[in-house]
Amino acid sequence: MQEVLELIKERKSARTVFDPNHPVAPQELRQILEAARWSPTAHNMQNFEIIVVDDRKLLEAIGDIKYTISDTFIKENYQQLSFSEEELRRKKVGLLGTMFPPELRTPEVKPDETTDEKMVSSLGRLIQTSPVVLIVVYDPSKRAPASEGDFLGIMSLGCVMENMWFMAHSRGISFHVLSALSADPAEKEVKSLLNIPENLKIAFASRLGYPISTPTKYLRVRRDIEDFTHYNRFGNKSVD
Ligand SMILES: Cc1cc2nc3c(=O)[nH]c(=O)nc-3n(C[C@H](O)[C@H](O)[C@H](O)COP(=O)(O)O)c2cc1C
Repeated sequence: MQEVLELIKERKSARTVFDPNHPVAPQELRQILEAARWSPTAHNMQNFEIIVVDDRKLLEAIGDIKYTISDTFIKENYQQLSFSEEELRRKKVGLLGTMFPPELRTPEVKPDETTDEKMVSSLGRLIQTSPVVLIVVYDPSKRAPASEGDFLGIMSLGCVMENMWFMAHSRGISFHVLSALSADPAEKEVKSLLNIPENLKIAFASRLGYPISTPTKYLRVRRDIEDFTHYNRFGNKSVD
């Protein structure tokens, strides 16, 4: 039991450069895909397809895509940022502002072409040096029964992500979710590069690999159990 909890607590995002010359072994990759295979999904619809990208030319091309940063992202990203470790510890949710380039930490500064370029070059480099990138796609027209906005189908895709993440982590393989690939206009380009049928949508992408150097530790915070738990009625914070 304790081991499972340790695995859950230790799983983390690896936003660092991976060693392109240290591939993920085929049997390790297969185990990660096996973990995806056994994910719980609404109505057991298994509403996902996974494209394993390890062709260097394709990774180069995906890394070269121009990822744009929307004003909405800037605004909503800013709302989740803390500007000191002390602030983040107090808030217990969100991320440290220093994880983002200065242009994305200051809502007054309008990002321009250079911001896009900086983000693109760092994201592009992360993709291009990864030994493998997984692209998880789904068919939004095949929703889970009576699920408004396919909420249940999308939750199922989250289970796929988590299963693969745990399996990768348990094998010592770093995992980094890349939402940028599922947002327009990048998604269109990725789909075209990988021959993904028009009707499918990219749920998420993730890079897998081994960091090229020891990653710098970053502060990971969580709310306390008492913060999000309610007993019998919402707002009731005591067990009896
Ligand atoms: C649906 C989803 C999308 C995410 N997208 C990104 C992303 O695009 N880039 C990134 O660096 N991390 C992404 N993450 C990772 C979260 O930022 C991360 O899980 C969270 O900050 C907690 O940190 P931890 O994973 O180290 O525990 C995503 C996570 C989830 C579940």
